[in-house]
Amino acid sequence: DFVKNCRPVGFPPGPWAFPVVGNLFSFDHTRTHEVLTQYGDVYSLRMGKKWLVVVNRSELLKEALITQGDSLADRPDLPMSQDITVGRGMTFTSGHIWRQQRRFALSTLRNFGFAKTSLQPVILDEFSHCAEEFRRYEGKPFNPHLVMNNAVSNIICSLLFGHRFEYSDEKFQKLLRWFGVVLHTHASIWAQLYNSFTGFMRFLPGPHQTIKQISQGVKDFIRAEINEHKKNWDPSTQRDYIDCYLNEIQMGKDENTFDEENMIICVMDLFVAGSETTSTTLRWGFLYMAKYPEIQEKVQAEIDRVIGQSRQPSMEDRANLPYTDAVIHEIQRMGNIVPLSLPHLTNRDVQLGGYNIPKGFAVIPNLTSEGKFVKPAAFIPFSAGKRLCPGESLAKMELFLFFTCFMQHFNFSMPAGVKPVTDFLFGITLSPKEYEICATSRQE
Ligand code: HEM
Repeated sequence: DFVKNCRPVGFPPGPWAFPVVGNLFSFDHTRTHEVLTQYGDVYSLRMGKKWLVVVNRSELLKEALITQGDSLADRPDLPMSQDITVGRGMTFTSGHIWRQQRRFALSTLRNFGFAKTSLQPVILDEFSHCAEEFRRYEGKPFNPHLVMNNAVSNIICSLLFGHRFEYSDEKFQKLLRWFGVVLHTHASIWAQLYNSFTGFMRFLPGPHQTIKQISQGVKDFIRAEINEHKKNWDPSTQRDYIDCYLNEIQMGKDENTFDEENMIICVMDLFVAGSETTSTTLRWGFLYMAKYPEIQEKVQAEIDRVIGQSRQPSMEDRANLPYTDAVIHEIQRMGNIVPLSLPHLTNRDVQLGGYNIPKGFAVIPNLTSEGKFVKPAAFIPFSAGKRLCPGESLAKMELFLFFTCFMQHFNFSMPAGVKPVTDFLFGITLSPKEYEICATSRQE
């Protein structure tokens, strides 16, 4: 154990680590991404028994994620995630299964209109539902959280399941609320403790048990969707991702990793990642527009000039809306939605910033690190390299179309006497604290 307490030879330095617990209790786990910018460009910490490396500076992030991307493409086996995914899916796997599932997801979703114009009407139609819901409040304060989650989630649902869910569907809303809990718990001190002292904690009550139950609920939901698909499945017409996956299972190619259990986890990966992130970004967007009304006015003026009030926006308008586009980027930068990306793992010995990181060590890319500067090269909200977010083009399309539609039709302001609070809730995603906002229709 003494050896484990010491850093390997040539390993990046870092703050003093206590016996047994290491640096677990050395910092505030409610603002981890801010704390992690403080110890240097590349340094190490010990979480319980496990050493990990944090990378901060833009050039070093590029070196780690792109130049040496192959050596850092794996994910660590974190017990809290493994309890849920049991070695399946595409977000927490490595090697052959990861490559095969990621490639399949990208090509299938691309065929269904990821970043192509065929998805545009789906997003615009969803906006109409959402606008109707917002108008029901007649400019009075309301919390947009669940409606936004539902609206954004419906886009990935249409690709995965072939249909959307009504905002009045309580079962679906419960599922979306769970996603928030899962992302929050995964980045909490509790996750660090559980991942370090799993054997001891496995049988104790706590959030790690809650999210196991939650994930069971999510899996049951997905299984029910798959069973529905199987009932009227026709291999000659593929309606969505599930149909394509069923096809892939039936083809049964050599060395393939396609089976029903894997499909459930892959759908879950896409479902969770495709629901929380974009809707959190838009929730930051509403809040910032209410906080900076002069910026909101400029965005609206540009949209009125280029698109007007009667026509719906399209992706082709983006090139003519440079101010709106810049504001969306700024919302992403300030919102810093996935501050610590997801952890990577070295699959061979690597050299980074003059230090040695042996095979099998976790590396945390801190995407926050240059958040204070407007410097496009340093702005990588979707990460970079082999693990680059596969939803990037979908997310960009959703953000542009939803945001532009909202600005075309609504004016956002804080309820009378309420100041906008831009504090965050830390998790894998960084979300604004719950707030109420007024959405006044611009047409009246
Ligand atoms: C991974 C950001 C939207 C699916 C990631 C990662 C980041 C990220 C930082 C980690 C990359 C790494 O490990 O280095 C975002 C942001 C989004 C967004 C900021 C919205 C504004 C989406 C959407 C989907 C999606 C809409 C749905 C298709 C995924 C998946 C992974 C991932 C499946 C894991 C990929 C892998 O491990 O190979 N995302 N994402 N994301 N994202 Fe996104």
